[in-house]
Amino acid sequence: MKCSILIIILNYLSHALTYKPVILLHGILTGYESMELIKSRIEEKHPGTVVYNIEQFEGWSSLENMWYQVSEIGKEIKNITDKYSHGVNFIGYSQGALLARTLLQANPDHNIHRFISLSGPQAGQYGTQFLHFYFPGLALKTAFELFYSRVGQHTSVGNYWNDPYHKELYFNYSQYLPYVNNEIKSNRSQHDFKNSLTKLDLLVLIGGPDDNVITPWQSSLFGYFDENGTVINFMNRNIYKDDTIGLKTLNKKGKLKVLTVSWSQPFYVAYKYVCL
Ligand SMILES: *[C@@H]1O[C@H](CO)[C@@H](O)[C@H](O)[C@H]1NC(C)=O
Ligand SMILES: *[C@@H]1O[C@H](CO)[C@@H](O)[C@H](O)[C@H]1NC(C)=O
Ligand SMILES: *[C@@H]1O[C@H](CO)[C@@H](O)[C@H](O)[C@H]1NC(C)=O
Ligand SMILES: *[C@@H]1O[C@H](CO)[C@@H](O)[C@H](O)[C@H]1NC(C)=O
Repeated sequence: MKCSILIIILNYLSHALTYKPVILLHGILTGYESMELIKSRIEEKHPGTVVYNIEQFEGWSSLENMWYQVSEIGKEIKNITDKYSHGVNFIGYSQGALLARTLLQANPDHNIHRFISLSGPQAGQYGTQFLHFYFPGLALKTAFELFYSRVGQHTSVGNYWNDPYHKELYFNYSQYLPYVNNEIKSNRSQHDFKNSLTKLDLLVLIGGPDDNVITPWQSSLFGYFDENGTVINFMNRNIYKDDTIGLKTLNKKGKLKVLTVSWSQPFYVAYKYVCL
């Protein structure tokens, strides 16, 4: 199957003459190793590309608070991007795709050129199956009791837990996702959270129905459940219609690519089995 996903990514990264450096950020409960295959493929297909594969917050520590991760990883990203005045491209995978997006939003002076979000819970997450190995007792319908609490907000998953049947609690407790998605207006809404995205040269959102981690999978493309549990396409949601974080602006300029791909397994597994 999906070597074509890699080709899609490489196409979006490629430039006429030279290849910009690429930063990779891994997903939840994994580490930089899960991105090594894509790293070597980029180096093979685009020789000379400098690839930075972030090693912070691997394994269990990937469950730390999102804002804390953004501030720590942000220091390393700044170190890297300061070296390249012509800009850098960024690929985030799974939770790393949401972190990467916030890393842009929290740093309006960033020089990220193209940002590729691979299966990231951009509109939130409402599924526990990926956590069952670690939290066997965690039930979907009552997880909000844990996540929408002070303690729950210390965890990354709690920060982007978006229970469609408990929206009021989400707005009352969540310290992260409703802010970066501008569902709650703050003094950072325009200058940071929106303008930082609209200055991108290209935003690529990649997701697929067989991803098995992000629920609903359309969250990778900013789609999400409505209050009755029906998944609404991103273009019919306020985040797009009201252009709250700049997706519409990017789309009108031809700078938004939304790709639905099919995977039979989570992306990194698909790579190992399919693209070697
Ligand atoms: C950033 O660069 C400075 C100077 O080279 C170094 O001291 C510091 O450890 C780096 N920080 C990170 C997070 O990479
Ligand atoms: C949310 O916060 C408001 C204002 O503090 C409060 O009146 C309301 O009861 C809270 N809702 C829930 C579901 O906790
Ligand atoms: C934004 O608001 C927070 C409190 O909600 C305040 O601490 C911060 O200084 C404000 N920032 C600016 C730039 O006004
Ligand atoms: C959800 O279902 C209720 C009851 O059927 C209905 O009144 C409401 O309009 C629905 N909401 C949406 C967003 O479709």
